Amino acid sequence: MNIISRIRVTIFGLVGPLLNFPKPFSFVGPDASLSLAREIVGLGVKRVMVITDGPVFKLGIVNPVIAELQKGGITVEVYSEIEPDPGYELVLKGVEQLNKFKADAVLAVGGGSSIDGAKSILLCQANNCHPSKLAGVWLYSAPRKRGLPFFAIPTTAGTGSEVTIAAVVSDKQLQIKHAIIDPKVVPSMVALDPKLMTGLPPFITAPTGMDALTHAVEAYISTIATDETDALARMATASILRNLPIAYAEGSNLEARERMAVASCMAGLAFTRAGVGYVHAIAHQLGGLYHVPHGLANAIVMPQILDLSKSHCAHRLADLARVSGIGNAGASETELADAFIAQIRKMNADMQIPQVVKELQRNDFDKIIDRAFAEAHGTYGVPRYMTRADATALLERLMPK
Ligand SMILES: NC(=O)c1ccc[n+]([C@@H]2O[C@H](COP(=O)([O-])OP(=O)(O)OC[C@H]3O[C@@H](n4cnc5c(N)ncnc54)[C@H](O)[C@@H]3O)[C@@H](O)[C@H]2O)c1
Ligand SMILES: [Fe+2]
Repeated sequence: MNIISRIRVTIFGLVGPLLNFPKPFSFVGPDASLSLAREIVGLGVKRVMVITDGPVFKLGIVNPVIAELQKGGITVEVYSEIEPDPGYELVLKGVEQLNKFKADAVLAVGGGSSIDGAKSILLCQANNCHPSKLAGVWLYSAPRKRGLPFFAIPTTAGTGSEVTIAAVVSDKQLQIKHAIIDPKVVPSMVALDPKLMTGLPPFITAPTGMDALTHAVEAYISTIATDETDALARMATASILRNLPIAYAEGSNLEARERMAVASCMAGLAFTRAGVGYVHAIAHQLGGLYHVPHGLANAIVMPQILDLSKSHCAHRLADLARVSGIGNAGASETELADAFIAQIRKMNADMQIPQVVKELQRNDFDKIIDRAFAEAHGTYGVPRYMTRADATALLERLMPK
């Protein structure tokens, strides 16, 4: 089993660098969202559907962007029904609204849920299909059509969805989160506007930031990492370790917010090629079964997986420690790897992130392990394969005390 998985991942690793993944043109800085809106106007687009979620829409974050589009003569319709971890129903409803409105472009504004919802809506509409038909890696499916012109403005600094080839969509009935992996979902242009993130409360800033860190770390320890993903993952890690505590403690700090937005993007670019790992494979199950927010699940699971994997990637974790200024000069690789993992635990504790998953139930262990292994094995370049016993012991450590 592990040998077949390793061969499949190795093939991914060899083929991956030959594939051309689009990278969106990015506007960065305060009011970058308005620059993007003006650029959309300049394209001659006439009807834009803005896809967002209810709370973000009610906060009014989207209003200046909509006003800028309207000022340029664009008719705007808002679909604000996206919820965390959007399911098939919301996607299908969005497709219906998109068709009715006869949009000629889509702008997603929000966290990963809004951007992924928009990505799924666009791909379903273009291919006239149910979202369940799109799950998995595009290479194994029939050729697909690209959706309408697509733009995105993230309002969390976490998922990196604005630059990735992934869209996560949930099957609420089966309680499973599926990933649609397809370069056709990448937006053409994005804006990283720290002004839209200053109102993000600390309890969302912390887990979303830890999601970005998980992307960087899992990409860096991946067996299919490349020179390019390494550079991005190292920069993202160092920046998140420095700026996330500031953004958490001082939400209105525009500089820290902007650096987190850029780091989250770099981590997204890194994992879109190098993949993620067991942290995500388990976190997705905790999200699907118990609705644990994605970043929170990653933050809780990451130190446990790193403890388990470090015998096979101590040198990589040591690199991340060095680049982030952690550990003493002259420390061994193992000591540096341990210091890096300890730093992640400290950040979690400082940001009130728990060590256990309060919803976790022992009678779900088998389901979680089966699904996590099915997701990870043969897809992710994990440095050390887990046995069932490893996974069971890990879940036991995550049980509420
Ligand atoms: N496509 C990818 O590459 C990728 C990568 C990682 C995760 N994901 C997926 O993204 C989803 C999670 O996205 P997320 O972590 O960004 O959270 P989210 O989009 O679910 O948003 C979380 C909460 O934050 C609120 N919010 C967002 N921006 C805000 C702001 N500026 N001010 C105040 N409140 C704000 C939202 O209303 C929501 O209640 C999960 O479904 C996850 O699986 C996708
Ligand atoms: Fe993630």
